[in-house]
Amino acid sequence: MNTPSLTFSIVVAFSKNERGIGYKGTIPWSVPEDMKFFRTLTKQRKNGEPNKPNVLIMGKNTSRSLPNGGSPLPDRINICVSSTLPETIPLPHLDFFTNGSSSSINEFICINSFSKVLRYLETQQNNIGNIFVIGGEQLYKVAIHYPQCHKIYVNVISFPFRKKIPPFNTGNEDHPPIFDTFFPEINPEEYELVEETPLYPFGEQRNRVVSRFYMRIISQRVDTNNLYV
Ligand SMILES: NC(=O)c1ccc[n+]([C@@H]2O[C@H](COP(=O)([O-])OP(=O)(O)OC[C@H]3O[C@@H](n4cnc5c(N)ncnc54)[C@H](OP(=O)(O)O)[C@@H]3O)[C@@H](O)[C@H]2O)c1
Repeated sequence: MNTPSLTFSIVVAFSKNERGIGYKGTIPWSVPEDMKFFRTLTKQRKNGEPNKPNVLIMGKNTSRSLPNGGSPLPDRINICVSSTLPETIPLPHLDFFTNGSSSSINEFICINSFSKVLRYLETQQNNIGNIFVIGGEQLYKVAIHYPQCHKIYVNVISFPFRKKIPPFNTGNEDHPPIFDTFFPEINPEEYELVEETPLYPFGEQRNRVVSRFYMRIISQRVDTNNLYV
């Protein structure tokens, strides 16, 4: 019997008009509901598999932008993709999460290429839950074209929004928002929008953040083990 092949999701928040995701190495807004959405989505364990932690895959710049001076995000396996950082050798067997000897890993696992990350995770599938690619631009641009990318969760941010870092501005008509990193276009021939809901159900913020959920079009989904070409 074929084991189901590995698949992953992309999670991102981008600005409505520009698909901007970052500025000067940080996320240029502060939207608590967006952060809560990210935490809940990436932390919640697969049904019936409470011992299998989820995996976050990120580029080097995003890993350095994480809170607490670029510390791995808790309760998830953090993988940093970089062609210049030394690789983690040997790559760990992730069964120590499921055999009860440890409940957390406090360091990044560093791997030199994205396809190598997927090959590694394929060998660890019995020990892990859901897999998320969390940015930034360079990694999104590569990951979105892999057939293993089955879902994209996007929070679309409409400006004006609360200013986070000067001189970033909130994007009123006179001062459009500034970005230096962007999410690639989502090709409607590859992904279909299946759900769109406001992240803030009530009040002033209601239409400022919209959660969109895209799925890869069925005929392109991976369901066998013929990966990584
Ligand atoms: N709004 C959001 O949802 C969101 C989410 C995440 C990040 N961001 C923002 O995005 C910005 C960072 O984006 P970015 O494009 O500059 O950086 P990035 O993608 O996080 O990191 C780029 C670096 O990661 C490595 N890398 C990426 N893809 C690779 C691949 N396929 N193979 C090997 N190495 C790879 C390379 O490191 P080496 O040079 O060492 O090879 C590359 O220089 C920040 O402002 C961050 O705050 C926003």
